Formats: sequence, structure tokens, C-alpha cells
Amino acid sequence: MESSLALGRLELTPSTAAVGVNLTPRLSGGPPAKEKSGQRPLGPQGQAHLNGCVPLSHQVAGHKYGVDKVGILQHPDGTVLKQLQPPPRGPREMQFYSMVYAEECSDPCLLELQNHLPKYYGTWSSPDSPIDLYLKLEDVTRRFVKPCIMDVKLGQRSYDPFASQEKREQQIRKYPLMEEIGFLVLGMRVYKVCSDTFDSYDQHYGRGLVKDTIQDGLAKFFHNGVCLRKDAVSASIHRVQQILRWFESQHQLAFYASSLLFVYEGFPSSSSSSSSLSSLLRAGQEEEVAEFNNNNIQVVLPWDCGMTTIYTNHRKHGHHHCAEEGEGEDGGRRRREEELQGQGDDATEGGGTDTEVEVRMIDFAHVFPSESHDHGYIYGLKHLLTVLEQILCEAA
Ligand SMILES: Nc1ncnc2c1ncn2[C@@H]1O[C@H](COP(=O)(O)OP(=O)(O)OP(=O)(O)O)[C@@H](O)[C@H]1O
Ligand SMILES: [Mg+2]
Repeated sequence: MESSLALGRLELTPSTAAVGVNLTPRLSGGPPAKEKSGQRPLGPQGQAHLNGCVPLSHQVAGHKYGVDKVGILQHPDGTVLKQLQPPPRGPREMQFYSMVYAEECSDPCLLELQNHLPKYYGTWSSPDSPIDLYLKLEDVTRRFVKPCIMDVKLGQRSYDPFASQEKREQQIRKYPLMEEIGFLVLGMRVYKVCSDTFDSYDQHYGRGLVKDTIQDGLAKFFHNGVCLRKDAVSASIHRVQQILRWFESQHQLAFYASSLLFVYEGFPSSSSSSSSLSSLLRAGQEEEVAEFNNNNIQVVLPWDCGMTTIYTNHRKHGHHHCAEEGEGEDGGRRRREEELQGQGDDATEGGGTDTEVEVRMIDFAHVFPSESHDHGYIYGLKHLLTVLEQILCEAA
């Protein structure tokens, strides 16, 4: 794989023609949109595109396939396909992934960074349209049964140093508080246990959050309708701290308009089986329900089973990433151990002591070589940590 550092200069010319596909319309502002959990949002025929690939059903932000010129697909093998943006953004992102995941890479900083990114499996294109390039990436939400997902843009500036005056002004207009707050919620979906639905929030929700409301606005992501998932907040804090440590250790890359993707398990775990939450669930649900997890793969779950049963079912259907198995691949075990260490006494309501959380960096269309620390991103991470800690504190 290519390992050049010339991230800002690469100019390829892949075609960016989009295939016209009619999708559910983009969400607008106002109250959260309700999505029935397990529902396939692709219409009754479950439309398939591009060799069995379909638009990513659990995308919470960004360019949407069929709505925008480029978008994100889900491959039948469970990976995510991100269509290359027009140059220079798409090629820049491709080159960034190629550099971080280069086989010959021996830079400890980049090797460590791999732990905070989705795995990269190179580029992909459909035989029908070989010039349309996609990045083939690990689906960070894949191992979750009811993935609660949040996309948070990080940094004090959403535009890169080469942006035109017009672009700068446009980005500042979109969220004038970026400099002060240092992050912006681009979208989220939150599982509500009693109704078995997801509440979705789009970019307008995040842009409406100001200094006084940012804490409550962020806390919504961790509320399942019955309780605040303090365990998920706590595990997320631990992950963000690891990312902060990486940023404080490196001064070779600067990230603009890049995001953190937060994911936690919305499905209640066995350790909460004696809680009021589980009683509520048992009272309100059928004995057995057919579920689609986020990967559109059908599994049948008895409602009062614990996570062990759920993960066993997943294995039967050919999934890996089991809690019990400790995730042998991709450093998952190490992540999990670190997560457990980070739980402490905070791991409580709704998720037990082994909360499954992912916080990964995504969206690298504006990453550039640098010679100093990324102060804007570090500022955003620190403020995000402060707000998450306040959420925990006030819930205590
Ligand atoms: N590796 C991944 N695993 C799971 N979901 C992903 C992954 N990458 C992206 N997504 C989903 O797609 C959304 C958009 O991704 P991303 O930010 O990379 O695209 P974008 O904003 O359209 O890109 P760009 O800014 O380059 O135009 C994310 O909010 C997330 O919901
Ligand atoms: Mg994005």
C-alpha cells in the first residue's frame, strides 16, 4: 500500500457518478424521528444495488447514497463502502487510510492510530462500474444488536488551511460556536428499550446546541427512555481519553472536519435482568421477536435472554466479535481489557460491568501533514471529556 505523506497534494480523477436510487428522505430538524427497531428502511423488496450492496441502513450523518452525489453502502460481507468524494477530498482520504494501514508501516504513531480507526480493507468497485471507487472499511457497529450511534465532528475549525474564504465563511455560518465548543453533534440514533424503536437526530439538532444546552443535548444519546446509561458514558470517556493521549503524543498530522463515531449496545444486558428495566421489557414484549440487527441479518431472540444468548445466536449466523470470545482479532481484546479497567464503579444501570462501547475516528477528507500538535482537535476532545464527565457527575 502507498505510504506517502503528501496527503494534501494527491490529485486522482475517479469518476464520481452516482447511481440514482430513491431513498427515504433526509431528516429535518425538530423532534427526533422514530424508526422501528429492526425495520429494513429499503422498501418491501429490500432493493439491492451494486452486486448486493445496499445503502447503509444505520448511517447517522454525512452524504447519503441516492440523496447526495456520493454516499455509503453496506457490502454483503458486513463491511462499509465509502464512495470516494470528488478530488481532492476522496483521494486524500484514500491516501490517509493507505498510509496508516500500509503493510510496511513501522511508524509507532501510525500503528497506534490503527486502534482508533475502522479497519481498512483497500478499495472496492463494482464490476458494473469499475471507475467508481469506494473505501472498504470495517463496520464499527457490526457486533452490536441494537447499536446506538453518534457522529461528533471534532476541532475548533471545520475548514482546512487551504479552504477558500467562501468555504471558511460557509463553515463558520453553519456552526459559529465551533471555535468555542470544539465539537459538533452531526447526528445520532438512540435505542428506546420500551418501544423497541430508535430515536434519530440529524445535523440540525446538533447545530441547535449552545453552551448552556450542550450537556443535556449530549446526554440524550445515553438515555434509553428508562435510565441514563452511565456505564456507556463511562466507557466512552475512557475511549476518548485514549484518543486524547494519541493526539498529545503526535505532531505529524492535523485533522479538520473529522469525526468521532460513538457506538454502544442499546440492548439491555443480562446483568440488568433483575432491574426495573428488565421487568418493564418482559412485561411489554412478546416472548419471541424476530430482530434485524444493524447489519440486516435476521436473528430470533427470546426477549428475556441475556447477552450471552444473543452473542451465541450471532455466532450461529456466522458473526465474529463475541463478548465471550474477547475479540481475538484487531486488538479488540486489548481494547476490551482497557475498557474494563476504565469502568470502575461507574459501570451500572442497564449495561453491567462489561459495557461494549466503540469510539472511532472517521472521515479523513481533510487530514494534512503537520509539524505541531493539533490544538483545535485536542481542545475539542478536552471539552467533550469535560461535558461527558459532567453528565456522569450530575447523574451520580
Ligand atoms: N466505518 C464505519 N462504520 C460504521 N458506520 C460508518 C463508518 N463510516 C461511516 N459510517 C457512517 O456514515 C456516516 C458518514 O460517514 P463519513 O463521515 O465518513 O462520511 P461523510 O461525512 O459523507 O464524508 P465526507 O465528509 O468525506 O463527505 C457516519 O456518521 C456513520 O453513520
Ligand atoms: Mg462525516
